[in-house]
Amino acid sequence: MPARRSVPSILAITATGIAIVALCGPAPALAAPPQYGAGADGIGDPYFPLAGNGGTDVVHYDLDLDYTPAAPAPAPLEGRLDGVATIDLVPTQNLSRFNLDLRGLTATEVTVAGKPATFTQTENELVITPTKKVKAGKSTQVVVTYGGTTTQPTDIEGALYGWVTTRDGAMVVSEPDGSATWFPVNDHPTDKATYSFEITVPDGLVAVANGLPSGPATTVDGKTTWYWDAPDAMAPYLATASVGDYVIDEYVAANGTPIFDAVDPARLGDPSAALALTSDMLVFFEGLYGPYPFNSYGAIVDDDSVGYALETQTRSFFSRTAREGTVAHELAHQWMGNQVSPARWADIWLNEGWATYSQWMWTEHRGGDTAQASFDAYLSIPADDAEWELVIADPGPLGLFLNPVYDRGAATLHALRVEIGDDAFFDLARTWVERFGGRTASTADFIALSEEVSGAHLEDFFQVWLYTSGKPTDW
Ligand code: TRP
Ligand code: ZN
Repeated sequence: MPARRSVPSILAITATGIAIVALCGPAPALAAPPQYGAGADGIGDPYFPLAGNGGTDVVHYDLDLDYTPAAPAPAPLEGRLDGVATIDLVPTQNLSRFNLDLRGLTATEVTVAGKPATFTQTENELVITPTKKVKAGKSTQVVVTYGGTTTQPTDIEGALYGWVTTRDGAMVVSEPDGSATWFPVNDHPTDKATYSFEITVPDGLVAVANGLPSGPATTVDGKTTWYWDAPDAMAPYLATASVGDYVIDEYVAANGTPIFDAVDPARLGDPSAALALTSDMLVFFEGLYGPYPFNSYGAIVDDDSVGYALETQTRSFFSRTAREGTVAHELAHQWMGNQVSPARWADIWLNEGWATYSQWMWTEHRGGDTAQASFDAYLSIPADDAEWELVIADPGPLGLFLNPVYDRGAATLHALRVEIGDDAFFDLARTWVERFGGRTASTADFIALSEEVSGAHLEDFFQVWLYTSGKPTDW
């Protein structure tokens, strides 16, 4: 997907062209020599100024990783990761220099179009200067050899994320900007790409990534290499390469989707595990949102952390327990968040509101509380409760995963459904996935589509629910 920043640059060229014609008559026959410059160090998301980069659009990441987890305690909880990332990208401007995001690992060699490049590193950025400048629009391959000690990276809130080292492997969950802790990346959802993986781990461990195995694992000299191919365009934060002592279960769901589950043996007999409902859930959500968008699905259930679940694309991650509500939530994200991704991190309510509302609808489908009852329960929270303070369309980088983003987001969708009726609401849901699938969309896109599909004026409605602090009373 071309990143959004390419649009203004095209407009700027057009505007310049028009200005020349207007001021000087016919445009000169010879174009001025192309200007080469440095790509920006961020993609322009105000919440994460250094996430992503300017001037490049990545098409494919091929990640060749070699990983050794931490030794048993009392050894420090540190692993060793060595990688070769082969990145196919298209420059969106003429580049004399460009960045990739990389944090906590050291690059040792970089080539651009087969030629050695010079490079430097800051805390978040790998700054690459190719020997030969790269021209806008010309497909270019960048190869980065890198590695280092892996530890326990944390996000802006201090929560573990990214490549998290465990005693028996790694849990790899990178929302929102943690992919840079394990590969050089244009780390923003506006630059989706396809991925392939070759992950070498000590024999006996399993490495599970997105998509489907592209061949059987091979073992040489006490090390096993796992091969994965993820051909559906994916935002970087949804990539995973989790490593553990997993039991593998492969089957085909009722809707035809191949399933690959990897479950830590310590979690196998878990009575609250709900993975067996995945097939029924796929059928249910296809009925609401349209065909499941990817080539495969499945779960990674790890034993190493507390309370984490992430909708890693095609392979949702659960730590400890895969409860029914969470299983439904992460599956629904495959349409809402993964197939259609947030244009900016401020749009996160579109991910979490839809996933939470999907949980409400699943609960109703199973004979539990109706979606209306869940809405009523939420609206029974007193008006002076802190729950109503957050403006969910602009929660701030520290508010991305606060409760109102989930629950007020879900309530917004339910109120919208009541406002425009079931036919328009589910038409909206399917059109949303169809129109913006494979790319990103913003809150403004959602409001515009809601009005287009329903024919209703919804400005005041969304003003109250999304852009105003305080408990909605009238909309
Ligand atoms: N998106 C996750 C969910 O709601 C929550 C989440 C945010 C997360 N950042 C994370 C999970 C980092 C794991 C790691 O399901
Ligand atoms: Zn979620």
